[in-house]
Amino acid sequence: MSDPLVDSFGRVHNYVRISVTDRCNLGCQYCRPGNSTDYTTKIDLLTFNEMVAIVNVLAEMGVTKVRITGGEPLLRPHLEELVSRLSAISGIRRIGLTTNGMLLASKAQALRQAGLTDVNVSLDSLLPERYANITRGGNLSRVMRAVEACFEAGFKMLKLNVVLMQGVNEDEIESFLRLTLDYPLQIRFIEYMPIGNQAEGWKAGFMPLEGIMAQCAERGWDAQRVVPADSLSNSSFCGTAADSGPARYYRISGAAGEFGLINPVSDHFCMDCNRLRITANGHVKPCLYWNDERDIKPFIGNDEMLRQEIRRSLEAKPQRHEMIVQPSHKPSQHTMLRQMSQIGG
Ligand code: GTP
Ligand code: 5AD
Repeated sequence: MSDPLVDSFGRVHNYVRISVTDRCNLGCQYCRPGNSTDYTTKIDLLTFNEMVAIVNVLAEMGVTKVRITGGEPLLRPHLEELVSRLSAISGIRRIGLTTNGMLLASKAQALRQAGLTDVNVSLDSLLPERYANITRGGNLSRVMRAVEACFEAGFKMLKLNVVLMQGVNEDEIESFLRLTLDYPLQIRFIEYMPIGNQAEGWKAGFMPLEGIMAQCAERGWDAQRVVPADSLSNSSFCGTAADSGPARYYRISGAAGEFGLINPVSDHFCMDCNRLRITANGHVKPCLYWNDERDIKPFIGNDEMLRQEIRRSLEAKPQRHEMIVQPSHKPSQHTMLRQMSQIGG
């Protein structure tokens, strides 16, 4: 076992998010503003062999959890093969997938059998037309079928990610909360984060999450803070809710599921960040909102060099992220100008 991955601020890193493609089959407005299908730059994707080599090294450095992201990760053929190979790595205890669900229904069983432990599905509306509009072409019934298929495949709890946007879907908070009453779902309301250099457009849609607790109270729902079911094996991220990732979770009395609040804008949680990101072309990205990336692809095959490069990347991790929340903000060289879809959230 190598020394653990600790950054300059003492944060231990035990969680890696690997983007397996920068392409997506949807063009969600909050993720890809502007032209949804403009994939003009072609990148050299990491192969599964390369990803496994990187995770092998990371696992020796104390990483226990891998989350597979995109773009849309299920666009990558034979993803279950990657899951199976990652789950065989000593020390890796959880493998998650964040997906829009469009291609998930037929894959759920194979992914589960291959060792996938956690599925997070992006779902921002329960109204078919609105869903199609937000996602620029998504089909709600396909996502619903995928959710069912995951339960049939044996996943006990699913996370649904809802990016809340003023004037777009904030009137659906109650419908999403009602889902938790009957189903073992974790509905996570996420603050809309600015992407690239879009502060102006983002401001119109941003809404803080504080009204959600008030909505529960208005309906007479007693919502209590809980430590989520998967927390013991999940890695710590948010200092206020140890072991529950970026979300704070609540359960309405008697409900089958939970709801979570993720508020990276109004109350950033960087002090407990335990994450590294690997981009689809093999760069280590130590922070979602920071441009410094280090290309580690050339070092695959030389574990000593790979370790060294990963540690160097971590040394450059900032104490907290830099989001452009004011149109007047002058981006520094570190400001994240990539589309969210290129990073996988
Ligand atoms: P688990 O804890 O593994 O379930 O993952 P997660 O909830 O972090 O992953 P998911 O991909 O479902 O992301 C949920 C939301 O959290 C998305 O909007 C992400 O962009 C956001 N998020 C995840 N990691 C970070 C981070 O390091 N910084 C910020 N600002 N947001 C993050
Ligand atoms: N703000 C908040 N969350 C976002 N995601 C993508 N773009 C944004 C944004 N601008 C979320 C998606 C997905 C996760 C990986 O990141 O909903 O669930």
